[in-house]
Amino acid sequence: MRVIIVKDKEEMGKRTADLIAADMKAKERITYVLGLATGGTPLPLYREFIQRNKAGELDFSTVVTFNLDEYVGLPPTHPESYRYFMDENLFNHTNINPKNTHVPDGMADDVEAFCEKYEEMIADVGGIDYQVLGIGSNGHIGFNEPGSSLGSLTRIKTLTETTRKDNARFFDNNLDEVPKYAITMGNGTILNARRVVLMAHGENKAKAVADALEGPVTAMCPASVLQLHRYATYVITKDAASQLTLETYES
Ligand code: PGA
Repeated sequence: MRVIIVKDKEEMGKRTADLIAADMKAKERITYVLGLATGGTPLPLYREFIQRNKAGELDFSTVVTFNLDEYVGLPPTHPESYRYFMDENLFNHTNINPKNTHVPDGMADDVEAFCEKYEEMIADVGGIDYQVLGIGSNGHIGFNEPGSSLGSLTRIKTLTETTRKDNARFFDNNLDEVPKYAITMGNGTILNARRVVLMAHGENKAKAVADALEGPVTAMCPASVLQLHRYATYVITKDAASQLTLETYES
């Protein structure tokens, strides 16, 4: 695995945008498939994407996207839904075709059938070229909470208390308002992506980052599954790297 340690989250966004832009340019296929994440972590990356797109340096017209997850029960018009987040923080500000953007449907009547269809849609476009990830303070990726099967595919998951508390800040700090379930790509879906980049900033992520990078591969720390991926890169700030024993091996 490659570990890039950067000084702050702006540099984290830039370095990650560089990695993805280089891969987009190198690829000769007509469409480029991005796996995307929500939360505070990817925002600096999305700001870079928007800026480069506006400057004519990065074209999204042939990009297809699949988001990792969505809360069950929140419609796309809900300001805390991940569809709303993506439209506001990335899609509406680039030349991406909205029809090429996919976020799991948190309002699906038949969740199980929807999850199967989501996997099929990813397969139909040839799989994900680059998957963007954050990491939860409990080591989750997407909403694959500790204990999630390392081979899992898209499905519904119950959110842990830790995750709901972490996310309560987006719901007026009212834990009762935080949904209890989410649809999420599985750890196996993420492993199937050709390349994966995990970003993290802040000291509250340091333990999860150390467990994921230097601990055993275990369902108790879902991000540790990336140890099995051929092209996984971590782009993390110094504070998020502060519990690594091998902190200085690449910077
Ligand atoms: P955050 O969430 O980017 O808001 O810290 C990351 C995650 O929970 O995966």
